[in-house]
Amino acid sequence: MTYTAYSPSLSSLWTPGGRPGVMDLRSRWRRLVLPALDGEVLDVGAGEGRSTGSLPGSARVTSLEPHPGSVRRLRRSAKGRRGARVVQARAEAMPLPDRSMDAAICCVTLCSVDDQDRALAEIHRVLRPGGRLVVFEHVAGPKGTWLRAGQKLVAPFSRATDRGCHPARDTEAALDRSALRIEQLVRIDAAGPWGLRIPHLAAVLGRVDR
Ligand SMILES: C[S@@+](CC[C@H](N)C(=O)[O-])C[C@H]1O[C@@H](n2cnc3c(N)ncnc32)[C@H](O)[C@@H]1O
Repeated sequence: MTYTAYSPSLSSLWTPGGRPGVMDLRSRWRRLVLPALDGEVLDVGAGEGRSTGSLPGSARVTSLEPHPGSVRRLRRSAKGRRGARVVQARAEAMPLPDRSMDAAICCVTLCSVDDQDRALAEIHRVLRPGGRLVVFEHVAGPKGTWLRAGQKLVAPFSRATDRGCHPARDTEAALDRSALRIEQLVRIDAAGPWGLRIPHLAAVLGRVDR
């Protein structure tokens, strides 16, 4: 499979005159971005496999997930999809061959991994040259804000109770440090509970080998 240009523009995630809800924004991202992926597609931290339904039927999905309960559910639903497989592993150490994937998905997963740099290095390794990583993540609020201080305060609790989820991750810096090339990146605030503003980023990155 050869990618030339990635056509969906992430700027269309913005809604004029309103802040979308967190789940609404996530579903809109899935509907916008995922149908453009095809071939061997890796869903990193697949959870309950919610991204799979937005991929084209021709995509062969590898769901990578460490949590045993989610792996059991993913294995049950993989039976109904041609070419689907489930790998129980962490993003930091993927038992997958080099250059074996056409695309990778991180949908609210880089908030949960233990080591973002290691996970991104692994994604770079398993993507073939020209392959793409699409990312949708909630991220840390701006430095020095009450929002960021609050996110840091609740982080130990959410790490312990929500499968490692860290609300104050500087994911944009990690993407910048990675060997992947950022092709598109947008920052969008979603409306959270109690009127809270939840900063998100959506990005498309490519493996470009010279
Ligand atoms: C918030 S859920 C997102 C699930 C799914 N991507 C989605 O869009 O609904 C985060 C997922 O990352 C998984 N996870 C946690 N640590 C991980 C790691 N080190 N490597 C890969 N996945 C991890 C969790 O088990 C969980 O399923």
